[in-house]
Order: sequence, then C-alpha cells, then structure tokens
Amino acid sequence: MPINHDVQLGKNVKIFHPDLVNLYGCTIGDDTKIGTFVEIQKDVTIGSRCKISSHSFLCEGVALEDEVFIGHGVMFTNDLYPRATNEDGSLKTDDDWYTVKTLVKRCASIGSNATILPGVTIGEKAIVGSGATVTRDVPDYAIVVGVPARVIGDVRARSQNLQISASSL
Ligand SMILES: CC(C)(COP(=O)(O)OP(=O)(O)OC[C@H]1O[C@@H](n2cnc3c(N)ncnc32)[C@H](O)[C@@H]1OP(=O)(O)O)[C@@H](O)C(=O)NCCC(=O)NCCS
Repeated sequence: MPINHDVQLGKNVKIFHPDLVNLYGCTIGDDTKIGTFVEIQKDVTIGSRCKISSHSFLCEGVALEDEVFIGHGVMFTNDLYPRATNEDGSLKTDDDWYTVKTLVKRCASIGSNATILPGVTIGEKAIVGSGATVTRDVPDYAIVVGVPARVIGDVRARSQNLQISASSL
C-alpha cells in the first residue's frame, strides 16, 4: 500500500506519484512536497513547507521541523550498531532494539546522497553538502561537507544566504 491509512497528511500536501512512494505511520505537515520513490516510516514527523526529493529514505525516529529541504537519495539511519540476529541466531524483532532519534531543525537543507547517522541534530538553516556522511551534530547555519562531515563555512557569510533550490523535485 503506497500511502497507508495511518498516515496523517496536513493540508495541501503534494505527493507527486502516490503509487510510487511508501509512507506509513508518519505525520506530514501542510504544503509539504514529496517526490517519487520516497519511503517514510512510522513515527516520522515532517513539518510544514518541507521538500523531500526523490529516492530518499526517512526511517523511524526522524523528525524534520518546518521548511526543511531533503535532496535526492538522502539516507537517514536509526541504529548505530545494526545486527540481523540476536546472540542465539534468532532474527531481531522490534523488541530487540531501540530507535535512536534524529532531528533536523527548521530551514536546514540536506544535499543529495548524504547519509545521516543516528542521533544527530542538524541545526537551523544548516546545509549538508551532497555526499556527506554526518556523524556529529551540525551547528545552526553551518555548511558541512565530506566523510565524516566537517564544517567548512557559515551560510550567514554567504552573500545569497545559501538556499538550495528545490526546483529539481
Ligand atoms: C556544500 C555546498 C553547499 C557548497 O558550499 P560552499 O560553502 O559554497 O562551498 P564551495 O563551493 O565554496 O567549496 C568549498 C570547498 O568545499 C568543497 N566542496 C563543496 N561541496 C562539497 C561536497 N558536497 N563534498 C565535498 N567537498 C565539497 C569544494 O571542493 C571546496 O574545496 P577546496 O577549497 O578544496 O576547493 C555545495 O557544494 C553542495 O554540496 N550543495 C548541495 C547540492 C545538492 O545536493 N543539491 C540537492 C538538490 S539538486
């Protein structure tokens, strides 16, 4: 079922291809746009006026505040030491691990193909460069790039106060 009955959609949410997304148990705020082949899992909350580009994965435990931009193929994670099985060889179930929460604060942007490790907070208006792997909290207004992601600048020092265009959605 591409959009499960338990999804709470705000007003005027735009899902470009409802048959080609996988949304369940999540909450999505007003006027947010969601691209094709996006998966959003249960207990994810997404604010208003966000843009989620195609092929991105938002796992349980992720929260986006308002006006967040998520590029293409962004991968969130929620388990720092994942295992398929327990010590006795039995497959792990929902009861055998706990979700680590990740927060993306208002107006932050995450570039395409970035990976966000569990438990970090990405600060207000921060920009994560394409291909970065974020392993630590990102301060408000910081520009971070690389693996692991490191601060290379501050959006306030930029003449245009850098905003990634969402035109590619
Ligand atoms: C990080 C970004 C915002 C540019 O920030 P910036 O402060 O203007 O950075 P600059 O272009 O001045 O580059 C500064 C340095 O960082 C490097 N750099 C820039 N982006 C990088 C990235 N994504 N990964 C690794 N290094 C990067 C540059 O090569 C440069 O290195 P150098 O000083 O050794 O030459 C931009 O490159 C980026 O990744 N934007 C995201 C694009 C995207 O995914 N959009 C999604 C929708 S299409």
